[in-house]
Amino acid sequence: MSDERLARLRALVDEARAAGEYEALAAEWRALARVAAPAPAAGEVPRRFGLVGDSPRMHAVYDLIAKAAPAQVAVLVHGETGTGKELVARALHDHSPRKGKPFLAENCAAVPANLLESELFGHVKGSFTGAIADRKGTFVSADGGTVFLDEIGDMPLEMQAKLLRVLQDGEVRPVGSNQVRKVDVRLVAATNKDLVAMCGRGQFREDLYYRLNVITIELPPLRERPGDVAHLARFFLGRIADELGRPLELDPAALALLEGWTWPGNVRELENELRRAAVFADDVIGPEELSPNVRKGV
Ligand SMILES: Nc1ncnc2c1ncn2[C@@H]1O[C@H](COP(=O)(O)OP(=O)(O)OP(=O)(O)O)[C@@H](O)[C@H]1O
Ligand SMILES: [Mg+2]
Repeated sequence: MSDERLARLRALVDEARAAGEYEALAAEWRALARVAAPAPAAGEVPRRFGLVGDSPRMHAVYDLIAKAAPAQVAVLVHGETGTGKELVARALHDHSPRKGKPFLAENCAAVPANLLESELFGHVKGSFTGAIADRKGTFVSADGGTVFLDEIGDMPLEMQAKLLRVLQDGEVRPVGSNQVRKVDVRLVAATNKDLVAMCGRGQFREDLYYRLNVITIELPPLRERPGDVAHLARFFLGRIADELGRPLELDPAALALLEGWTWPGNVRELENELRRAAVFADDVIGPEELSPNVRKGV
């Protein structure tokens, strides 16, 4: 600050003192200073692409998403259950030129094998019992956008062959139809299985594997992300507190227990653990509110 401005400020302070208004001036000054330099928001957590985390392996994931998203090539997302595979698939879509077009997910493990083909490629009325009207199917509905095939390792071999044809030709044929239709979709697939080993055992088509896996994004288990349990815990607690409409904090001893647990169910398990603890806790979650496994670290 220049000498001249400092002298003006001193004069102002002296004047306020003389008039007995010093406290009022100081309060005003403090309020102004707070507006000029707001304190960092307490709830802020390091995140990118909608994923919370600041560990080296998550930064590697962010770098890959940043490169793969605009490239529009097929991506295979691999990782244990609850590591955030679906979030990554969405991030790839949201940061691609296809943003604004549909993002449609299909869980290959949840749909009975005999219905998967019609789910994905559609059917014409009367093509099988129960087909009471034409149906478009995921690929046609997602035209211009992204199809996310979750649990791809559970796709039956026969269906894998049909999917491969669609990827090669860029066209789908609805069940019971003899007409094909061109579609333009980007494919993102996810699995927690070892597809290479499945290829070796003849359970997954190698040619399909290479088509899906132009880029693989490997999501690390939560236990291999040092520091991220604390960030994620703060993120989820903020969200849960908002939902419950009451403040919620984590006691340092409880955080230490969370950081010591192995999290076989990864991020989903951590979120569930905190939701459960919030039910039992008043304002502060302590060790007593954690589930027995986490408390004992077994
Ligand atoms: N890094 C993260 N930051 C914030 N939330 C996350 C993160 N990773 C996962 N989640 C949350 O954890 C839950 C599980 O994530 P998601 O469904 O993407 O996992 P998944 O790998 O697809 O699991 P599954 O293999 O069981 O299908 C979701 O509620 C998701 O929002
Ligand atoms: Mg999933």
